[in-house]
Amino acid sequence: MTIIVTGGAGFIGANFILDWIEATGEPVVNLDKLTYAGNPDNLASLAGDDRYTFVQGDIGDSALVSNLLERHRPRAIVNFAAESHVDRSIHGPDDFIQTNVVGTCNLLAAARAYWESLPEPEHSAFRFLHVSTDEVYGSLEMGDDPFTETHPFAPNSPYSASKAASDHFVRAWHHTYGLPVLTTNCSNNYGPYQFPEKLIPLIIHNALAGKPLPIYADGQNVRDWLYVSDHCSAIRRVLEDGRLGETYNIGGWNELNNLEVVNTVCQLLDELQPDSAGSYSRLIAFVEDRAGHDRRYAIDARKIERELGWKPAESFETGIRKTVRWYLDHADWVGRVTSGEYRQWIDRHYRAEA
Ligand code: NAD
Ligand code: DAU
Repeated sequence: MTIIVTGGAGFIGANFILDWIEATGEPVVNLDKLTYAGNPDNLASLAGDDRYTFVQGDIGDSALVSNLLERHRPRAIVNFAAESHVDRSIHGPDDFIQTNVVGTCNLLAAARAYWESLPEPEHSAFRFLHVSTDEVYGSLEMGDDPFTETHPFAPNSPYSASKAASDHFVRAWHHTYGLPVLTTNCSNNYGPYQFPEKLIPLIIHNALAGKPLPIYADGQNVRDWLYVSDHCSAIRRVLEDGRLGETYNIGGWNELNNLEVVNTVCQLLDELQPDSAGSYSRLIAFVEDRAGHDRRYAIDARKIERELGWKPAESFETGIRKTVRWYLDHADWVGRVTSGEYRQWIDRHYRAEA
């Protein structure tokens, strides 16, 4: 048995593949385009392991995807491949539309043709799991109930609109063609291998370099944080026992505003790698807000808890300590991913704001 993972050289996909092979031992084929966010280094520990195959390519390449399905005969596709950074989607939405919408539709079409050709029992066992985000539901006010799976979609950024569109197409392929799909909508992840354009690794990276820690607006925007290995275990449970055509919200019940997150990271750095110049929190700098910045996300994770018995293993306290420790121990990884294109992005985005 084999599964195909797309976007497995990125943050969550790489953690998923590492956890998957350790937890199940089942072979994985990783199809990844290797955009700026894809880093084969993340999977270096699998070099020479015959349970892991890497293929560089685009989910939008129909011939390549069909060929991979025929060659590897997977029992499931887990689709992580996406453009994932909200700020980049504001600067340039085109890649988001191309990969997140057109690419996902292409994958659905290829998966359908393959699934329809499968004999039993492989036909009934096949699954297409689409990894999506809580951002499709839009923004909550402070007193609102967290998002359930029936919350109306109201995406506000080009990124979340492209993910919402992909979720709709996944739903349509199930409803119209019967493709056995599952969709997960998860809250903000953090942990090892996250590209330092996202809040937590950006703050760690800048603090250690003595650079300003940019917080948009008043720092009161709220996100619901989940340690990445908990997201991975949730996806495994949904793939195993999720009901076909259903969506499952995944979250850690860890709502924090951005200022609280940044202060926690600074306190951990003060403890683990003190700076003689004083607390890292001295570097906090409030900068211009993100355009259309969603105020609050929060996930009601009771459906996956009730139906599949999934619960996160990490609290924010344990997860963020592990994360800060990991970045301190992997300065070489950070050094490699923060050269080249990364510097251009930081200059373009933060200088434009200053
Ligand atoms: P990431 O940006 O770190 O990684 C994305 C990966 O997809 C990269 O390896 C990239 O090379 C690859 N990719 C991009 N375009 C591709 C294409 N056309 N064909 C093949 N590969 C392509 O993203 P991430 O943070 O790991 O997120 C993974 C998935 O999880 C995304 O679908 C995202 O929407 C979703 N998600 C992320 C979070 C989060 O907090 N990061 C939370 C919920 C859901
Ligand atoms: O909610 C799930 C989503 O979480 C995923 O779907 C996205 O792929 C992922 O990128 C993430 O989106 P966010 O926009 O919430 O994550 P980001 O790390 O970019 O920002 C987290 C919060 O921190 C947000 O309120 C914006 C703020 N922020 C971010 C950056 C990069 C700052 O204040 N300063 C910054 O420099």
